[in-house]
Amino acid sequence: MKVAVVGTGYVGLVTAVGLAKLGNEVIGVDKDINKIDMLGKGKLPIYEPGLNELFLSVLEEGKLDFSTDIGAAVRNSDVIFICVGTPSLDDGTADLSQVEEVARTVSENLDGYKLIVEKSTVPVNTARWIKRTIELYNKGKRVDFDVASNPEFLREGKAVYDFFHPDRIVIGVDSKRAENMLLELYAPVNAKILVTDIPTAELIKHASNSFLAMKISFINMISDLCDKTGADVKMVADGMGLDSRIGRAFLDAGLGYGGSCFPKDTRALFRIGEGYHLDFELLKVVDRINLKRIEKFIDKLKDALWVLKDKVVAVWGLSFKPDTDDIREAPSIKIIKELLKEDAHLRLYDPKAMENMKRLFPPDERVEYVDDMYSAVDGAHALLVVAEWGEFKDADLSRVASLMKTPVVVDGRNIFEPGEMAKYGIFYCGMGRGKSV
Ligand code: UGA
Repeated sequence: MKVAVVGTGYVGLVTAVGLAKLGNEVIGVDKDINKIDMLGKGKLPIYEPGLNELFLSVLEEGKLDFSTDIGAAVRNSDVIFICVGTPSLDDGTADLSQVEEVARTVSENLDGYKLIVEKSTVPVNTARWIKRTIELYNKGKRVDFDVASNPEFLREGKAVYDFFHPDRIVIGVDSKRAENMLLELYAPVNAKILVTDIPTAELIKHASNSFLAMKISFINMISDLCDKTGADVKMVADGMGLDSRIGRAFLDAGLGYGGSCFPKDTRALFRIGEGYHLDFELLKVVDRINLKRIEKFIDKLKDALWVLKDKVVAVWGLSFKPDTDDIREAPSIKIIKELLKEDAHLRLYDPKAMENMKRLFPPDERVEYVDDMYSAVDGAHALLVVAEWGEFKDADLSRVASLMKTPVVVDGRNIFEPGEMAKYGIFYCGMGRGKSV
């Protein structure tokens, strides 16, 4: 099939590369000329494990192309995926202006039947607006088209795997033609396929992300109680997770959720519920618990070090989670801001996200970026574990302890065990791991 993917962010790129690998002729389009230039030269603007190899292979096979000309891409395609951003407005509602702009462009370039698929996370009933916008700007030309919803469930850091091995593919359609086209497109992927109406598909995405965020805030609430009572949140989560009705996934307590999805999507769903005068307060509390994680984390550091002024604080992990260079809504950003307010000296290390972080916090006499995790702790008064990259889990702890000026480790992701850390003489403080050592 001939496919246009509008928007070359994380979702758009993985979708474009994945669909090209499935044998389709794909054109990735974006307004950002620099990005398109870079992609055209075979360079990816993001780090995502496994994506580069796949990207280069589909470029070589001639299955993937890039352009800034959205109109031409629409005219030359059978299916158009909308993968543009839907960022939060100040009040938490989703800003759909980019989606609307794509709908207008599609409308002006409809020259035969097209299937327009929304993949961006959007409020329920957005497809209806897309449809109406296409009709409105089409000035009565009777061109046939369908709008469908095919939400993405890709996790950053595991997006390539998730594309080819999804737990499910959700297809929201209101015509057999659209259903058949999407079923054909995904036929090579071995996954459960759920076909629904369009609003249901839209809501499955928002509800799934908000539910996962709720699980995280729930365990973080329990984690705070563990800190007060001496219980161990990891064991509590293991014990809960053994119940197949609950499941162990997304019960890792710590610094809470960041990234471009959960914070935005829980707020947006709250606003949607509120818009219908429904009590969605639950999601507000989920958000509130999440926002408080940083404060609690910094308190732990202060409990360990007392005064932070002029202390050298090493930070391991700047991305919002491991295996990505994405720092959107990363806990590290707020942590760095708080520590700078306290006049601490920061030694920052991340395997992939340092270049992105340097744009927010350029290196200066207080903010230092180092090339490896051991240089970060050399002479440091404390080490903060902020994202759980694999290499940190395998760290040589006796080397860490001997390099540090004062061996204090505050572990925001619970990658270490309190008993193990004590063996190296490290003053260790996890999140909800019982009383601090
Ligand atoms: C999330 C969803 O998992 C995807 O299914 C969805 O497609 C995507 O949002 C999206 O809407 O685009 P992502 O944000 O990439 O994916 O990352 P997750 O692995 O879900 O993690 C989100 C945040 O929750 C991270 O900050 C992570 O550190 C945190 N987290 C996760 C916890 O604090 N505890 C956990 O137990 C699990």
